[in-house]
Amino acid sequence: MITLGIETSCDETGVALYDGKRGLLGHALYSQVELHAQYGGVVPELASRDHVSKLLPLIQQVFDKSGITGKDVDGVAYTAGPGLVGALLVGAAAGRSLAWTWGVPAVAVHHMEGHLLASMLEANPPGFPFLALLVSGGHTLLVEVEGVGRYRLLGDSVDDAVGEAFDKTATVLGLSYPGGPALAALALEGDPGRFRFPRPMTDRPGLDFSFSGLKTFALNTWKACDKTGQDRADIARAFEDAVVDTLFIKCRRALEQTGLGTLVIAGGVGANQRLRARLGELMEQQGGRICYPRPEFCTDNGAMIAYAGFCRLKAGQAESLSIKAAPRWSLEDLPAVDSCR
Ligand code: KG4
Ligand code: ZN
Repeated sequence: MITLGIETSCDETGVALYDGKRGLLGHALYSQVELHAQYGGVVPELASRDHVSKLLPLIQQVFDKSGITGKDVDGVAYTAGPGLVGALLVGAAAGRSLAWTWGVPAVAVHHMEGHLLASMLEANPPGFPFLALLVSGGHTLLVEVEGVGRYRLLGDSVDDAVGEAFDKTATVLGLSYPGGPALAALALEGDPGRFRFPRPMTDRPGLDFSFSGLKTFALNTWKACDKTGQDRADIARAFEDAVVDTLFIKCRRALEQTGLGTLVIAGGVGANQRLRARLGELMEQQGGRICYPRPEFCTDNGAMIAYAGFCRLKAGQAESLSIKAAPRWSLEDLPAVDSCR
């Protein structure tokens, strides 16, 4: 069963073809980063317009490279939320319409479920149940995962998502948008002993997160120092250490609380090397397993949407002819799927 996956929830146009027998047949991504960098963040209207011009050529490109045509497609999966409504509508309208034209079902995919299942695309995928840490530009979630569509939200962000905190702190340090990867690179030059930032909400029980105070802490530290290159690197390191430590503490707590032995990291910040290394140590201490997608499938992509959609289409789930776009949508509201095989 060949599923076309379409991702347009934010500033990346992603397309992929997933086959139940052969796995991923092809994928392509167009990033709008340069378009938004001059504004210091994503401009929703510009994002929608760019998806409109890039999506169909990108689908054609993936078809050509995979040797597939519309006639071979058995179903279409499009990201229906959460995300920017205008951007979502582009992929949803195109995906729904193509499915109608081809006479195949279409399914609306939850963007965070895509992230959560992305490590299933790797050679040695995690088995259920597992704990998922979803760390992206819009979300910071700890989820107990019993199976596809069987999600219990354990922790959520009360303010800025962790990726957002990375990007805002990067802006404070004069790095261009999206600053997460640049901040992580700068942190490599930083002295870990120079500044100590707080580990927010770790001194009380619970699994929720708050990262907006760290950005303010970075700003105040920056204002109070000489603003040398080394100061920037030391602040970047202190910020990254505080984030990674906080996520480490909350993951350890969630593992204790649930008794789960597998941790899956996903979402753009899941590409962060220091985070991967520290959580790797945690799972080694626990005698458990850690899984994450390859870095390009941590950030937004079409492959994760094609896979999540494939699981749901395989289970007979599909949308009506109306086009679904849900800017706000809880993972806990998704229907369960028994098996993706
Ligand atoms: O999952 P994603 O591509 O998009 C959303 O669904 O939001 O995540 C993007 C976020 C951005 O905030 C970006 O700065 C951050 O992930 N990011 C990183 C790294 N790579 C991407 N943050 C820290 N370290 C990285 N290596
Ligand atoms: Zn994402």
